[in-house]
Amino acid sequence: IEMVPGNSLITKTPEEGRQLAVKMARLVIKATQPDASVREKLRPIYAEDAAMLIAVGQVVATEFATIAAANNYWK
Ligand code: HEM
Repeated sequence: IEMVPGNSLITKTPEEGRQLAVKMARLVIKATQPDASVREKLRPIYAEDAAMLIAVGQVVATEFATIAAANNYWK
C-alpha cells in the first residue's frame, strides 16, 4: 500500500490537504488490517461510537497538521 498517495504531501489548497489527510488516515487502517471483510465488520461499530469517531477526527487532524506544515500553510 502506498501510504502517501502520489508520494507527495504538497496540495494546491487546504481543502485538498484535508482530503489527503483523510486518505492517509484510511490507508493506515488498510495497511494495519488488509482484510476488507474484517474492516467491513468493524465499520458499523466505530461509526456508531462517539468516542471512536472523535479518535478518527484526532488522527485526521494530526495528518492534516503535517500536510499543512509541508505546504507552508498555503501562505
Ligand atoms: C468508511 C474514514 C477507520 C472501515 C469510511 C468513510 C470515511 C472513513 C470518511 C466514509 C467513506 C464514504 O462513505 O465515502 C476513516 C478514518 C479512519 C477510519 C479517517 C481512521 C482514522 C476505520 C476503521 C475501520 C474502517 C478502524 C475498520 C477496521 C471502514 C469501512 C468503510 C469505511 C469498511 C466503508 C463503509 C461503507 O461505505 O460501506 N471511513 N475510517 N474505517 N470505513 Fe473508515
